[in-house]
Amino acid sequence: MATGGPRNDLAGRRVVVSAGGTREYLDPVRFLGNRSSGRQGYALARAAMARGADVTLVAANVELPDPAGVKVVHVSTTAELRAAVLEAAAWADAVVMAAAPADFRPTAFAESKIKKAEDGSAPPITLAQNPDILKEISQHRARAGQVIVGFAAETGDATGSVLDLGRAKLARKGCDLLVVNDVSGGAVFGSNDNEAVIVAADGGEVPVARGAKSQLAHAIWDQVVTRFTPTA
Ligand code: CTP
Ligand code: CA
Repeated sequence: MATGGPRNDLAGRRVVVSAGGTREYLDPVRFLGNRSSGRQGYALARAAMARGADVTLVAANVELPDPAGVKVVHVSTTAELRAAVLEAAAWADAVVMAAAPADFRPTAFAESKIKKAEDGSAPPITLAQNPDILKEISQHRARAGQVIVGFAAETGDATGSVLDLGRAKLARKGCDLLVVNDVSGGAVFGSNDNEAVIVAADGGEVPVARGAKSQLAHAIWDQVVTRFTPTA
């Protein structure tokens, strides 16, 4: 169900959506990863398609069928996700980073499978921080007027509430909109429902009631559309 906006309001717009969770490989069979299912990103791609957009979906390790009519680029690591998003963003009117990139990668990749030692010891793993794609595309916009959207799953902590942390993250990243999920209750990963607040760099704050991920997707596109500069 849509939350409003004319059905064809993304016609003539190119949009990029990233989805899923990246993997960082230790050896040919092992990786560090996360629980992102890709469902919210896929819902965003389908909703944009339904509203007339030309959609590129960059999918990291998602076990869902490619949405019809959408250009899907499959990637696995954060480096691959970054390259695919930067390439597609060069032509995009909007970019939505719904993917969960792994924050860290092992500093070394073992070409052959790491074997157990007889003495019961475990090998140390050293990690390096991955590049922040959302920050990079927000701070170096490929096109004037491009609208950039990030996601944040927060629990809140001693330093602030979920919304405080969301606002601080929005400012740090430099994106236009940040979709803030409160995950302190647990059930967002892999579920069909989502609930969020869309915070905007221009001060706006739009709560979206718990509902299908397609409903949140349409609410996000509603906010993107109002921030586009009119086409000639
Ligand atoms: N993101 C990104 N590149 C990364 C990490 C995150 O583009 N290397 C994007 C995500 O796709 C999301 C947004 O940044 O849209 C926020 O992700 P999140 O993990 O909440 O932010 P981090 O900066 O990694 O902060 P945290 O320490 O809370 O994980
Ligand atoms: Ca992170």
